[in-house]
Formats: sequence, C-alpha cells, structure tokens
Amino acid sequence: MIRALRRIGIGLAALVAIGCFALVIGGPGLLKALQPGDGAGVAGVPIGGPFTLTDARTGARVTDANYRGQWMLVYFGYTFCPDVCPTDLQKMVAALTAMGPAADRITPIFITVDPARDNAAVLARYVGLFSPRLVGLTGSAAQVDAVTAAYRVYVQKVPPASPGAPYLVNHSAFMYLMSPKGKLAAIFPADATAQDLARQMAKDTATPAAS
Ligand code: NI
Repeated sequence: MIRALRRIGIGLAALVAIGCFALVIGGPGLLKALQPGDGAGVAGVPIGGPFTLTDARTGARVTDANYRGQWMLVYFGYTFCPDVCPTDLQKMVAALTAMGPAADRITPIFITVDPARDNAAVLARYVGLFSPRLVGLTGSAAQVDAVTAAYRVYVQKVPPASPGAPYLVNHSAFMYLMSPKGKLAAIFPADATAQDLARQMAKDTATPAAS
C-alpha cells in the first residue's frame, strides 16, 4: 500500500478540501500510517464499518451490507462543493471507465457530508451528472455523522462570509476502496490520476479479497 501510494505520487500525505480548495496537510508520518490490513486504518484505527443511509436515486434505506460481494469505492463530499468534489468524482468515473469490464465489480459511492442541503433529490440529480453508475447516499445528520466517524472523515462546516451567503464545508478528500467483505483495501489520495487509480484498482480487485 505504501508502495502504491508512492507510485500514485503522493510525496505528501493528506489532501483536505478546505471549502473545497485543496490544501496539503500532514506529512510522512501520516503517509506511513496509511496502511490497510485486517481493516486497520490510520495509526491502527479501523476505517469503515456499518452504516445506514438512503440511496438518493431510489429513496431506499441501504446499509453497508447491501454492498457485500462487491468492491466499494467510497468518496465523501457535498454537491455545493465548488471545485474538489466535482474534479474527484470525474476522476473516479474516468478511472472506472478506463478499467473496462473489470470495473463491473466496483460500486462507486458518493456519500454527502452535507445532508442539510443534499437531500435525496438534490443528490440524485448531482450524481447523475457524473455517471448512472455513481451511487449517491444521504441520510439524517446523525446517520451521516456516524458514517463519517466510521471512515475517519474530517468534516467542518465553515460559517458564511456574510449573512445569508452559502456556507462551505471543509472535508478530507480520500477515496476508500473497500473489499467485498467490507474491509478497507486501499486509500487513494485525491491527487492520484485517473490512470493511476485505474491501474491500482485493477490490481487490488483482481483477486477475491480474503479480508
Ligand atoms: Ni468537496
């Protein structure tokens, strides 16, 4: 994984979308900590886990168990994001397209960190702009808090600059590849290219996950 991250080209560790303007934080220490295995995540803290949310397109209640047997490529963000989220989602879709039929085993999922604005209708329209395959998940504030906590996603609402102006939401911008058994298989940094993602995911998902 460390090799993979290096190959993908992050010399620096973590990209956080500050109001969706990318800012590099962290350092080599955090890079070293990004080692999956047995579901362990950053510094041995598990990443991922059970969630209950709503599929924006169907309105159906879904849980992580709905996606067992498939790989999940999970990204957190919000539809009002001016820059980073749309760029990353385009990249996710481009990577899956580049993989061809091998991508059929991967379900790309966009989970909102801003459920107050991203209701099912808003989110369904948004994910549809990227791909019919991209799943949009929203939920109550408590449900979203639970899933962002499980994935250790940094989320911070930014007060608007002036009264009545729209707020932004700072959030970390990683892509999480989860195995068919729901365990963390890889974390991809936001600055990975679509080609790098495609190559790495083809390799990571080539064999049924043991974990
Ligand atoms: Ni964003």
